[in-house]
Amino acid sequence: MERTFLMIKPDGVQRNLVGEVIRRFEAKGFTLVGLKLIKVSRTLAEQHYDIHKERPFFGSLVDFITSSPVVAMVWEGDGVVASARKIIGATNPLTSEPGTIRGDYGVSIGRNLIHGSDATETAQREISLWFTEDELVSWEPNL
Ligand code: CMP
Repeated sequence: MERTFLMIKPDGVQRNLVGEVIRRFEAKGFTLVGLKLIKVSRTLAEQHYDIHKERPFFGSLVDFITSSPVVAMVWEGDGVVASARKIIGATNPLTSEPGTIRGDYGVSIGRNLIHGSDATETAQREISLWFTEDELVSWEPNL
């Protein structure tokens, strides 16, 4: 089953949007298989954002992600990678569609509340970077 990695960034946690983000993914019908609140190390932040290391905002991005706790999650479901990107909205919240998380709650590209993997290969890389196998739980509803 397809999985994606999501991270509620420090701004999302500080604005008390953790419940709202989880609610949207639960309501859509995806399955939560991994969840933790962590203070990110500089090493992990730099590895996670390695693709942006030459960009002028890389240093400030790593500073921000390591500045206070984030909520890291893995969600599972058919087509979850692309669907999560739609639920999250475009990178710049000023151009994200209303109805998306960033479109509804964000105003700044550097404070865009949440990260979601951009492709299935990226999701696999990010999940293994942030979670051990033991921290992921495969389950199905049985009520
Ligand atoms: P994210 O989806 O986590 O992936 C990379 C992040 O870099 C992105 O969200 C933004 O938060 C951040 N980012 C992208 N462009 C800029 C920019 N011009 N200035 C500051 N941060 C940026």
